[in-house]
Amino acid sequence: MEKEKIIIIKSRFLAEIGNSRNEKELYDIKVKFVGRNGELTKILKNLKNLSAVERKEIGPLANQARQEIEGIYENRKKELGSQVDWEKEKIDVTLPGEKISRGSLHPITLVYREIEKIFSSMGFEVVEGPELETDWYNFTALNFPLDHPARDMQDTFWIKSPKEKMVLRTHTSPVQVRYMEKRKPPFRIIVPGRVYRNEATDAAHEHTLHQFEALVVGDDINVGHFKYIAKEFFSAFFGKQINIRLRPSFFPFTEPSFEFDISCTVCGGKKCPSCKNSGWLEIGGAGMVNQNVFVSAGYPRNKYQGFAWGFGIERLAMMKYKIDDIRWFESGDLRFIKQF
Ligand code: DAH
Repeated sequence: MEKEKIIIIKSRFLAEIGNSRNEKELYDIKVKFVGRNGELTKILKNLKNLSAVERKEIGPLANQARQEIEGIYENRKKELGSQVDWEKEKIDVTLPGEKISRGSLHPITLVYREIEKIFSSMGFEVVEGPELETDWYNFTALNFPLDHPARDMQDTFWIKSPKEKMVLRTHTSPVQVRYMEKRKPPFRIIVPGRVYRNEATDAAHEHTLHQFEALVVGDDINVGHFKYIAKEFFSAFFGKQINIRLRPSFFPFTEPSFEFDISCTVCGGKKCPSCKNSGWLEIGGAGMVNQNVFVSAGYPRNKYQGFAWGFGIERLAMMKYKIDDIRWFESGDLRFIKQF
């Protein structure tokens, strides 16, 4: 009798639990069979009233059935738990979406890329060099005589080093010599890169900045080539016709040397407050490569001619994006960065 009851209880439990759709239903079914007054519990409680022989047979059967029921209950509970609750998962596609904030490129990176694009289109190669530089490449190879006041033009950070004197490079010009040591003319390169100066900072001066250098060398390169390339570049960069003006200057690594200006990007040369009513904006330095620099790189003297120029990328970015203080670039201030 009891034995059949147990078998029936088990199969009914199985049938009912198979139909349960949530944890509450599942729990109720469990209680119905093995709860305090559950059907199987009753059989277990009644064991004491059975004969010794029957108890020996029914006892283990009932206990086993109870364990099975508990086990099946736990499994089914897990099964239901992992099922998707479609009610909760419903998506209202008419709700406004969550805005994903996207990063943007730093203005210096933007200008770098623009410069590289324009020069690549004119057949220039983009070259890089180390930021930690030897005294030789940063100064001596570029014809800065030892102890010459020209070195003071670029006050720098010296690095303690056991062998050679090392500096955080003050300009991108050392890459001229590094490149020429490995290549023979003709070639045209640009060198964008970070440089360092021991500056007292203000709206126009920063200790960490970016420059870019251009170097074109061949048998008969002349100042006319420089003017043409500069004009092409600045016109493409500012998206309008730009004129170039040269003024005599001095750099140890060029002879002759000049500073160059571009026609004002705001008034086009008609004179306005942006160009302090001069019609021109100062950009950077340039010149014909000094033969001593060719010799430093291992070229024979007076065999090649070339022009070089170099200037600050920050200055260019400030003109293009109308930024009033150079210190913004290295500030890490998100209010600034996010505008680009
Ligand atoms: N290296 C110079 C500086 O940082 C800039 C410069 C001037 C670069 C004349 C040149 C050049 O290539 O020809 O002040």
